[in-house]
Amino acid sequence: MPKNNHSPGLTIVITGASSGIGEAAAKQLARAGANVCLVARRRDELERVREEIVAEGGNAHIYPADLTDNDSVDACCAAILAEHERVDVLVNNAGRSIRRSLRESVDRPHDFERTMQINYFAAVRMTLRLLPRMLQQGQGHVINVSSAAVLTNPPRFAAYTASKAALDSFSRSLRIELNHKGITVTSLNYPLVKTAMTAPTEIYKYVPQMDVAKAAGWIVGAVKSHPAFRSTVPAHALHVATAALPGTTLMMMGQFYKGMVATLNYVQKRRERGRQDQGQQE
Ligand SMILES: NC(=O)c1ccc[n+]([C@@H]2O[C@H](COP(=O)([O-])OP(=O)(O)OC[C@H]3O[C@@H](n4cnc5c(N)ncnc54)[C@H](OP(=O)(O)O)[C@@H]3O)[C@@H](O)[C@H]2O)c1
Repeated sequence: MPKNNHSPGLTIVITGASSGIGEAAAKQLARAGANVCLVARRRDELERVREEIVAEGGNAHIYPADLTDNDSVDACCAAILAEHERVDVLVNNAGRSIRRSLRESVDRPHDFERTMQINYFAAVRMTLRLLPRMLQQGQGHVINVSSAAVLTNPPRFAAYTASKAALDSFSRSLRIELNHKGITVTSLNYPLVKTAMTAPTEIYKYVPQMDVAKAAGWIVGAVKSHPAFRSTVPAHALHVATAALPGTTLMMMGQFYKGMVATLNYVQKRRERGRQDQGQQE
């Protein structure tokens, strides 16, 4: 199968397909003709996504699995391999974020363990289990969903950012080692995207967030053109600045984030007060 293939006929495994970016990507890829394998924990949500895809004339299969459980990953991959002749693309998208300062984390080493478990070890295990089929085919594409936070180092996201940084490093090793065997690897380092993941964080309501359909479009674009890496221009710029002048850039970013969080908290409090005053007048 040629490298710059489109989606028709491709079998694409997408983890975290029960909501957010994964669900939107699964639907867009199915519309483009892919046979999509949907993985996540919530069977009812996977079933809903599958039904919506089938109702549009698409092709989808569900594989409920808890990817933090090694046996569950193995069983899920065994079922996919048994039921599909090819695995053309694996999208490691399932993930979780934790927003907590390091000062508040001193008694919470498990935050670091659980982000690694889903954001890193689950993606690695999925890849290792499906890789032999890709090598046998002489072609395969792994798309790892990462975060611009790896490039911009926002405070309060140490556990999350470190787990995605590990995933980015794994992506680069995989690409370097197996590109000549037909395996391509893409790292998508997203900025904030409006999904269930960002919804609980009040101050995100006051910062720009990418639309979920656009975020899913990055995955569709990656399936078509196999880039090694995609992020936003500001994230790229900060990454370059941090590599060139780490001490100065990190110090300036620390000041910037402090000011930004203070401003957002102020805006949020003002709006809340405005709403309360309005409520009292009514
Ligand atoms: N939203 C953002 O601002 C943003 C920015 C950068 C990167 N990302 C990354 O984008 C990816 C998708 O996130 P999203 O924003 O679309 O959030 P989301 O709507 O919360 O989706 C997360 C998905 O991961 C699945 N998942 C979580 N834990 C799992 C587990 N143990 N086993 C199997 N599946 C599991 C969830 O399904 P179940 O609950 O059904 O298991 C869900 O389908 C994540 O990797 C995230 O880190 C998001």
